[in-house]
Amino acid sequence: MNNRDLQALAKIVQPESEAFAHTLPAVVYQPGIYDTVDQTQILHRSWQLAAHESQLQTVGDYVVHEVADQPVIVVKTEQGLKAFHNVCRHRAGPLAFENGHAKTLMCKYHGWNYHLTGALKSAPEMHTTPGFDVSRYHLPEIKLTTWQSMVFVALNDGVPEFDEVVDGIVERILPIDMGVMNFHRRDEFVLDCNWKVYVENYLEGYHLPHVHPGLNKLLDYKSYQTELSKWHSYQFSLLDQGTGFYDDGQAHYYFIYPNTMLNVLPNRLQTNQVLPMRGNQTKVIFDYYYPDFEGKDRLVLQDQIFSDEVQDEDVMICEAVQKGLDSGSYDKGRLCLKREMGLYHFQELVRAAYRQLLPS
Ligand code: FES
Ligand SMILES: [Fe+2]
Repeated sequence: MNNRDLQALAKIVQPESEAFAHTLPAVVYQPGIYDTVDQTQILHRSWQLAAHESQLQTVGDYVVHEVADQPVIVVKTEQGLKAFHNVCRHRAGPLAFENGHAKTLMCKYHGWNYHLTGALKSAPEMHTTPGFDVSRYHLPEIKLTTWQSMVFVALNDGVPEFDEVVDGIVERILPIDMGVMNFHRRDEFVLDCNWKVYVENYLEGYHLPHVHPGLNKLLDYKSYQTELSKWHSYQFSLLDQGTGFYDDGQAHYYFIYPNTMLNVLPNRLQTNQVLPMRGNQTKVIFDYYYPDFEGKDRLVLQDQIFSDEVQDEDVMICEAVQKGLDSGSYDKGRLCLKREMGLYHFQELVRAAYRQLLPS
């Protein structure tokens, strides 16, 4: 960042008080310096959902994923799960293009071959190269943790303790147990909006009556509440009994900073991951999980139809909001204290991440 950028940044990153909070200004949703800043200051420095244990049951199973433009591979080894940069030490080729199973990881470019532990095993014809020593090459390992059968990775070592990030979630949703749910399907969406627009839309129920008439009937809007923790926020609402096909109970919507969502309903988990793409687009990945129970097929079908409807509505509003942010007619606005505190919480964490760029 040059001096002018830093001066502009200094003006927008001071903490805001809850009651008097303004939104982040439109400039942080535009393509430009904030693309890079969001990747390096936010996504590289946080826990990112990368896989599910059910995809990694046998030694040799691997999953490829991309976090903040960084190709990552998660591998089941004799020593448990490991994550590496999916980048060969020869000339940066990929070890895998898609999920699979293998005894070793062989680079797709020139065939350098790695043990599942990441150590280089062999490299074709490299004995002709003086001083080349396979034992000196190893795929760089990435921090990894598993929680409720989900696999999270962190590109940077300086991330918060994972236990602190998810503190209290498992207990709060009891008797629902996310750990016993099985993967059912994945949907991917590409949106014409900045990733933060999508996240912020998720973080408030204020738009329910206006954007989601169907969802608004299912949830009891009056009981809708938000709670904030250090690294996550929690929205919950009673399910309006008798109108829906989910069992009676609560809808739990967890947002794990900066871009993971856990949407938990009785007998159903849907994870969302929100990934910035170049050109101010956003990829949103939905994974659906269900336990085995009687009536599952009916729930799966209705859940899918209903989720698609809600997502279509969210896509439409997010893309329209991006146009508004791009219009030049808007800089920032005020937040609703009653309904938008999840959004405030996210924006304060973003401001804190941006502040790290300022000279101390
Ligand atoms: S880049 Fe991997 S073998 Fe050449
Ligand atoms: Fe929505």
